[in-house]
Amino acid sequence: MAFRPGFLLLALRAILAVSEPCSVLFVNQGKHPITLEYVPPGDEPNRYIGQVVPGQQHSEDSHCGHQFALRVEKGPPTTVLIKSAGKVLFKAQTVKVVVEPAGALIGSEMRLDTPGMRAQVEATRKECQIQFQGHQQDVDYFCSKDFDHRFYVEARVEHTDAEFKKKHGSAMKERERGDRHQPPKFSTFTDVGFKVGSMPQDLHTELLRFHSTERLTKAKPENMLVFCPNLSGRESDTWLLALPQDLRNKIETSMRPILAKWSGFEPDDLQLTAIYGVRLYHNGSVLYDHVDRVDTHVISAILEVQHMVGGAEADAADKELWPLHILDHDGGQHRVRNQVGQMILYESATCAHGRPQPFIGREFANVFVHFAPRGWPDKFRVQPGQPRGFRHPEL
Ligand SMILES: *[C@@H]1O[C@H](CO)[C@@H](O)[C@H](O)[C@H]1NC(C)=O
Ligand SMILES: *[C@@H]1O[C@H](CO)[C@@H](O)[C@H](O)[C@H]1NC(C)=O
Repeated sequence: MAFRPGFLLLALRAILAVSEPCSVLFVNQGKHPITLEYVPPGDEPNRYIGQVVPGQQHSEDSHCGHQFALRVEKGPPTTVLIKSAGKVLFKAQTVKVVVEPAGALIGSEMRLDTPGMRAQVEATRKECQIQFQGHQQDVDYFCSKDFDHRFYVEARVEHTDAEFKKKHGSAMKERERGDRHQPPKFSTFTDVGFKVGSMPQDLHTELLRFHSTERLTKAKPENMLVFCPNLSGRESDTWLLALPQDLRNKIETSMRPILAKWSGFEPDDLQLTAIYGVRLYHNGSVLYDHVDRVDTHVISAILEVQHMVGGAEADAADKELWPLHILDHDGGQHRVRNQVGQMILYESATCAHGRPQPFIGREFANVFVHFAPRGWPDKFRVQPGQPRGFRHPEL
C-alpha cells in the first residue's frame, strides 16, 4: 500500500503531538558490554542500535514514550520506557541488566535550571564561539543550545576545580599503576608494539566524505565519564559521529588483513571486538597515556581521518600537531607525528599511549578499530620472568 502524502503528514503530526523529543544517554556503569536495541511499537522485531561497552555511553535522540531493550549477550532483555530526557544508568549482573532506578529514567538532572548552570552555559558558549571563530557553521552547530547539558558543561557546575582535581587525581594514579602493571602480564605479537603507515586510500576517502558531510548534522557530545582517567568528560570536549553499518563493515574488511599480517595471525584468528568513532576532539582535549581495556582491545589501529587546524593555531601548537606518545615493548618512548590519512597499528593493551598535551585547534577526527586473537586473554597470559613474545604454532 502506498501512503498518500496528505495522510503521511497527518500521521506525522499525530506522532509529533504525542511524543516530545527526549534525548537519552545510556551509560554502562558495569563491567560487561551491553547490547542496546530499539523496541518498535507493534510486532516488528527489535532494531539493533549497538554495544555499549563498560565506562562508555551512547546518546540517542529519542522521543518520550519510546522503549529500548538492554541485554547481556544472550540474556533476557530489560526494557526501559523513556519518560523524559535524561540518563539511563545500567550494569550487568550475571545475565540480567539492572537499570537505575528500576525500569524508569531520571530526567530531572539534565534540566538543572539554576543560576550557576545558566552562567556556566553562557561561559562555555562564549568559549565555544571563540574557538570556532571564522567558521560560522561550526559555531551554529557545536555552540548551540541543543548541547548545553553535555557533561563538559554540567560537570563544571557539579564540581569545583579543586573537587574535580582531587577525585580525578586518584583515578589518574590508578591509571598510572595500570600502565606499569598490565603490559608485563600479557603476550606481545610484534617486535616493537606499533607501526605507522597509511590507511587504504579508498577507506580514507569514504571516511573523509562521511566526516565532512555529517559532522554538522550528526555529531553528538561523547559525554565521557567525568572522572575517566584517560579522557575526562569535564576536561575534554569530545564528540562522537557514529559510524553507519556499511562504513563499519568497510573498516572491518579493510583493516582485518592488515592487522592480521602485522601481528602474525591468520585473518580468521582475529575477532573484531570494537570499532569506535568517529571521535572528534575539540580544542583543549587531553588524552592521558593509558593502556586499553585488557579484555577486548588488543590488536588495534588508530585511523587519522581529518585534522582541522588553522594557520595561527598550527603555529601556536608545536608543528607536530598533537603527536601520539607511545611506549614500545622495551619501554622506549616515541612521538608519532600526525598525518591525515595515517594509520597507527598498535598493541593497545600492552603499549601505553596518549596525547597528553592539550590539542590546540579546531577538530581532530579519529576512528579506532580493535581486534583480539581467539582465546584472548586466557591463552595469552605470561608468568613473571617468562618471555612475552608470542610464538605462533608451526603449521
Ligand atoms: C584552545 O585550548 C587551549 C588549551 O586549553 C587554550 O589555551 C586556548 O585558549 C584555546 N583556544 C581557543 C581559540 O579557544
Ligand atoms: C583507561 O586506562 C586504564 C588504565 O590504564 C585502563 O584500565 C582502562 O581500561 C582505560 N579505559 C579504556 C576505555 O580504555
